[in-house]
Amino acid sequence: MANIAVVPAWLTPPADVNELLPQLWARTVGRDEAGTLHVGGTAVGDLARTYGTPLYVVDELDFRSRAVAFRDAFADAFADLCGGADVYYASKAFIATGIARWIAEDGLHLDAASAGELDLGLRGGILPGRIALHGNNKSRAEISAALEAGVGRIVLDSLAEIDLVAEMARERGVVAPVMLRITVGVEAHTHSYIATAHEDQKFGLSLASGRAEAAVAKILARPELHLLGLHSHIGSQIFDMGGFEVSARRLLELHQKVERDHGVELPEIDLGGGYGVAYTSEDKPLQPVEIAGRLAEIVARECLVQGIAVPRVSVEPGRAIAAPSTFTLYEVGTTKEVELEGGTRRRYVSVDGGMSDNIRTALYDADYSATVASRASTATGVLSRVVGKHCESGDVVVRDEFLPEDTTAGDLLAVPGTGAYCRSMASNYNQVPRPAVVAVRDGAAKVLVRRETPEDLLALDAG
Ligand code: LLP
Repeated sequence: MANIAVVPAWLTPPADVNELLPQLWARTVGRDEAGTLHVGGTAVGDLARTYGTPLYVVDELDFRSRAVAFRDAFADAFADLCGGADVYYASKAFIATGIARWIAEDGLHLDAASAGELDLGLRGGILPGRIALHGNNKSRAEISAALEAGVGRIVLDSLAEIDLVAEMARERGVVAPVMLRITVGVEAHTHSYIATAHEDQKFGLSLASGRAEAAVAKILARPELHLLGLHSHIGSQIFDMGGFEVSARRLLELHQKVERDHGVELPEIDLGGGYGVAYTSEDKPLQPVEIAGRLAEIVARECLVQGIAVPRVSVEPGRAIAAPSTFTLYEVGTTKEVELEGGTRRRYVSVDGGMSDNIRTALYDADYSATVASRASTATGVLSRVVGKHCESGDVVVRDEFLPEDTTAGDLLAVPGTGAYCRSMASNYNQVPRPAVVAVRDGAAKVLVRRETPEDLLALDAG
């Protein structure tokens, strides 16, 4: 019997090791009669044979239906308040030209945090006017690319950047549409590395210190800048709407003050992203309709209190669209068992990837789940840890999971929820080529990003 000090409280031994919890898996994932995992009408064995492992497998229908669900939920919830709301997919979660094409076709906007993300958005056919450029230290080249493309907004992040963007806009004879990122002083309940609105961090202009107001005045004094409104992003993987409420309130208070003191109208407000997703059975994410409904209530109430017209609202979900659409497919290699204090045993299951394709476990103490994908098993579940092939003991993919006792070399293992911040944060640690990303739909697979080859890596080596 597993020792409760070793097994996390939320993890219970499954009655059936083949069970797929619906909140963890993309919508078209299931097992066929033989017990093999399939997605988008394709069996994982075929995907592994054709594209190799590790492999990121994106369920196109799942990704697009989540994007559309956010688009529609926000359009509906804000229809009567401000004629709808705009959803900017946060491309840092994961972007490829093929993804940008879906975003364009499905009528979302794009949040780009670099020239590279901006470029992929444009290549995918997203209209420049529907793209926002972010970043706390944008380069001149990035600002220049945004101005050349004619992006819909540059989100200014510092006092120095106000002058820089204004000068660069003046040189080009254009007026740059801008927003201002405000640090609203909210402590989001998430890992400290991904909380972004408390005072002691690098992003934005702080409300409490008065810098936010000074920055507004500075922007309004520059004829080359058109201030659309204020922006706040409080952090990521957040389940509790309380932080968003405080943030929206503080932002709208400042919005009112700016309109009053400067006699201007700010047409927009951006409430950022950060909505949590399920990585394990304990995570209970809110649905887009609930999120949009709550935010609409909050905005309506606060605008009433402030006596202001409701500005056009935008939000920037990344993870909540991308993460659940994708699982990583690995092949199992070596396994071993260790005996823990109290007699519990832990099975180590090594896969052919690791912290190079999913750094989140090591970096944020993130939890994930896993299942044997190439077959069903009749064995009982044993406490297991899925680890990678890299040369450090922190190279863990799934810290705790009950995997079948007969899990063995050659099995395919699937880890769900890896569509956000996994491929986009992948590395070549140990000179390991990064995996391909394949989208599946209606029995057909297409490569979104091909697998790196040793030659790709050697091409960078100066010899
Ligand atoms: N908007 C802004 C300004 C952001 O900085 C971010 C994320 C988002 C939107 C999207 O947040 P989401 O909806 O995806 O939570 N690498 C970390 C997450 C870093 C998020 C950075 N900014 C992770 O793997 O958890």
